[in-house]
Amino acid sequence: MINGEKTLDRPIRWAMIGGGRGSQIGYIHRSSALRDHSFELVAGAFDINPERGKDFGISIGVDPDRCYPDYKTLFAEEAKREDSIEAVSITTPNATHYEICKAALEAGMHVVCEKPLCFKTEEAEELVKLAEAKGLVVGVTYGYSGHQMIEQARQMIIHGDLGEIRLINMQFAHGAYNTAIEKENPAIKWRMNPQFAGPSCVIADVGTHPLFLAEAIIPDFEIDNLMCSRKAFVEERELEDNAFVIMNLKSGAQATMWASAINCGSLHGQKIRIIGSKASIEWWDEHPNQLAYEIEGEPARVLERGAAYLYPEALAEDRISAGHPEGLFDAWSNLYRRFAIAMDLANKGEKANFWFPDIHAGAQGVKWVEKCVESADQGAIWIKY
Ligand code: NAI
Repeated sequence: MINGEKTLDRPIRWAMIGGGRGSQIGYIHRSSALRDHSFELVAGAFDINPERGKDFGISIGVDPDRCYPDYKTLFAEEAKREDSIEAVSITTPNATHYEICKAALEAGMHVVCEKPLCFKTEEAEELVKLAEAKGLVVGVTYGYSGHQMIEQARQMIIHGDLGEIRLINMQFAHGAYNTAIEKENPAIKWRMNPQFAGPSCVIADVGTHPLFLAEAIIPDFEIDNLMCSRKAFVEERELEDNAFVIMNLKSGAQATMWASAINCGSLHGQKIRIIGSKASIEWWDEHPNQLAYEIEGEPARVLERGAAYLYPEALAEDRISAGHPEGLFDAWSNLYRRFAIAMDLANKGEKANFWFPDIHAGAQGVKWVEKCVESADQGAIWIKY
């Protein structure tokens, strides 16, 4: 159980790039990083608009002198200080991640990067090499992977509760972009523009989330080949708002993904169902505290977060007893706590002996999007992974 005691001797000096006023994802980064005293927010380049960014930084308690107009100034000015930042979170639109992540690593900082890490496999490999050479940690915020019921699912697979894994059915299919709302909303506009979003919309924006859940839950989840079909249903969209992917895994299992932003009536719709030879489990992000466990021939069960019958690993990061819901913010806090411990260990020349969405997970996401787009754009052909 996590109860707010300090995890590290002192918090890591931390900055944010992006995540300013009105951004979708900035607050959950701050809320999660600051929750367990693992990080201290001391600087930032919070906004594409420098004045607005400074005003915002001051409003959340950052020293005005350390609210910088852009990330280059942030890194240059901080390098002159004795108490300079040690880690940075990159929460800007997709097209900026690669250059900012590279600059941060070159400046010797640990990084938490939003997905996608970058757009090309070569860029991802370069970042992996750079991080390894410098001994730095890069965490990627596949947020729900930090939820305890994902750990329970992982432990159930490891313990063989499902038998041999045959099928993995994934989806992240919401209905929020069923009309051209990007015309009025700048935060959605960039998601439909390849210049800012990259080669894909929903495959990268939502599909990579359940993909990482599958990778986290199933230790031997390795794709052999895949086939993808993508389509923009709303007129004038350059990028897809719906995609289907079929994957053959090296283990012999098969997997499917439905990524969509036009699933009318669905709020979020991120689900993963794993089907083994004995039983299936299913998790849905709108009810994250419950994990369906269905053994063939027996009445269906629902496992509840915090219950004593769960595997100990799935209880370790509880913050309150069973029956009270824990959700996205708690899952993110668990991830940020793991990032902090991994960064602290790296500073001491040690490696973390626990899993978290790291730079390899980020690179996998990049490769998967690239392969899906390659398949879809050649008429939904099978592509070797
Ligand atoms: P947004 O458009 O709502 O906000 C972006 C923020 O970054 C704004 O404050 C903007 O002023 C600032 N910004 C833009 N360019 C900048 C630059 N060069 N330097 C400094 N600040 C800059 O975008 P949103 O939805 O918050 O997404 C940001 C990133 O987070 C995206 O990569 C997106 O894919 C990812 N995301 C991840 C989620 C997750 O669950 N892990 C959920 C939502 C978004």
